[in-house]
Amino acid sequence: MCGIVGYIGERQASDVLINGLARLEYRGYDSAGVAIVNGSLEVRKKKGKVKTLSNDLAGNKLEGKLGIGHTRWATHGPPNDINAHPHVSSDGSFALVHNGIIENYTSLKASLSQRGYSFSSQTDTEVLVRLIEDVRKSTGLSLGKAIRQALSQVQGTYGIAVVSHEDPDMLIAARKGSPLILGVGDGEYFLGSDAAPIIEYTRKVVYLNDGEMIIVRRTGFTVFTVENVALDKKVYELEWDLEQIEKGGYDHFMLKEIMEQPSSLENAMRGRLFKKAPYVVLGGMLEAMDQLRNADRIIICACGTSWHAALVGEYLIEALARIPVEVEYASEFRYRNPILRNNDAVLVISQSGETADTLAAVREAQSQGVPVYGVCNTVGSTIARDTDAGVYLHAGPEIGVASTKAFTAQVTILAQLALALAKQRKTMSDAEMASFVGELQAIPAQIQEVLDTAKSIENISQIYRYASNFLYLGRGPNFPVALEGALKLKEISYIHAEGYPAAEMKHGPIALIDRFMPVVFIAMKNSAYDKVISNIEEVVARNGIVIAVTDAEPGHIDDLCEHVIRVPSTHELLSPLLTVIPLQLLSYYIAVLRGCNVDQPRNLAKSVTVE
Ligand code: G6P
Repeated sequence: MCGIVGYIGERQASDVLINGLARLEYRGYDSAGVAIVNGSLEVRKKKGKVKTLSNDLAGNKLEGKLGIGHTRWATHGPPNDINAHPHVSSDGSFALVHNGIIENYTSLKASLSQRGYSFSSQTDTEVLVRLIEDVRKSTGLSLGKAIRQALSQVQGTYGIAVVSHEDPDMLIAARKGSPLILGVGDGEYFLGSDAAPIIEYTRKVVYLNDGEMIIVRRTGFTVFTVENVALDKKVYELEWDLEQIEKGGYDHFMLKEIMEQPSSLENAMRGRLFKKAPYVVLGGMLEAMDQLRNADRIIICACGTSWHAALVGEYLIEALARIPVEVEYASEFRYRNPILRNNDAVLVISQSGETADTLAAVREAQSQGVPVYGVCNTVGSTIARDTDAGVYLHAGPEIGVASTKAFTAQVTILAQLALALAKQRKTMSDAEMASFVGELQAIPAQIQEVLDTAKSIENISQIYRYASNFLYLGRGPNFPVALEGALKLKEISYIHAEGYPAAEMKHGPIALIDRFMPVVFIAMKNSAYDKVISNIEEVVARNGIVIAVTDAEPGHIDDLCEHVIRVPSTHELLSPLLTVIPLQLLSYYIAVLRGCNVDQPRNLAKSVTVE
């Protein structure tokens, strides 16, 4: 997500900050800014690249030896100069940068507005700035104490850094759920949301933990908890090189993104999903819900992995909210002169929000006067801007070309949308809603359980790295997962792979079965389990090799299959969130073993902006 840098010492802060921001570019961002203290507080921030900001600073330098900087990846409000960080207090005395999401920013903003505060940006961050101001004003507390008190009112996640011209020898930082590291130099300190901006200056670092706050002065630093208990922090020696840091210690962005899924799904549900009524609040869709819940039909258009998520969405929305859903390849939708009726609604899904085929589907629907809603990851992207309403994934930038965490975040959003529609259409009882919410909230921890078995999946990959063909089979909501598993393998390992509904195997693919073609079955203990077991038997009878992903107790399935990968049990409609994980890992490890360029596979682009 976004990146934070900070500096206090004897160098020109703007040089250190720009250097650091450039080091954080790998994380993906859409705007950058700095605040420098030198008698007064000066802020410079720009939409676009760090280069744009540094050109601006080169023309009009900001002198000063204390400062903070930020690369923003938009979550609340589109990328522009105003929404960029740092955000400054109304009296211009302090500036703040923030990573993370403040869940209760709407209610905080409402009460601060009532108390006379105004806002120039659409960000949740500015709300935190105003809250700190308000605490200061009403209590007379020092800046540090006011920050601590304001943070106790905040729900959500944050990593923040603050400077003030009232104290030119103080850099304040705090974290909850969003990493921060302090680099310890000689009479100088470097703050970073990871070690990338720090490493060229020092290898000595202090890691802040959740619930900790730090006050840094040129003579030293103090760390204490939000409850104001002072802590003794250990100084560590950094061992990673820059490339390792950028990838969070993983060999590839794709693996990092696979491993991030427990937290990206938490973010996709943060502030949206509740154990009690109303169960789901999708802020960006509130005004659209009436239209959507009364739609005769929802048509979902998307491409690639997003199209697979749409297929899972079809099962979710039809089963929970009982609205007919059709899923279309965006590229096909436009060119077959689709028949849209007054009471249809179109939903488009796109990680990048820039896919040309999906955008063309948006235009087609709009030309027929049908409302179009978007599910995008990139805030302020063309699709996000040009649709009537929508929901963001909040999955953070996805850098690996093969989509992983965006898929699970998309399914998580669709599950929440299905629930919200079900609530309004009364197609589920309160008890059913509460139980489904519970299952959804349990998914991040269950994904972690699957990720913890990565080593055994790597072992399986060793055996099949030389295969030329793979078949993936699943039923119900796991049929799209079979498609996604096959797509992941094709994309990054260049092995030919096909996904099919398990029962369709006998209508063609069964002719391919032999001992050289691994068949991956998704065999969850649900309504169709026995049927899938029969399909497995059919493959085994033809000397096929079966790798099964299942939540079944050890038993017959283990006798039949060469390998059994176990995942936890959940609601059948949510099982794709768990079953897709081993398939992502399987393709990742096979591609690595084959020496493929995992993050940038040949011929593929992350964002396909041509039709
Ligand atoms: C490209 C990417 C895929 C992605 C598809 C749709 O083909 O390589 O990973 O699934 O585009 O992209 P979108 O950004 O619209 O989800």
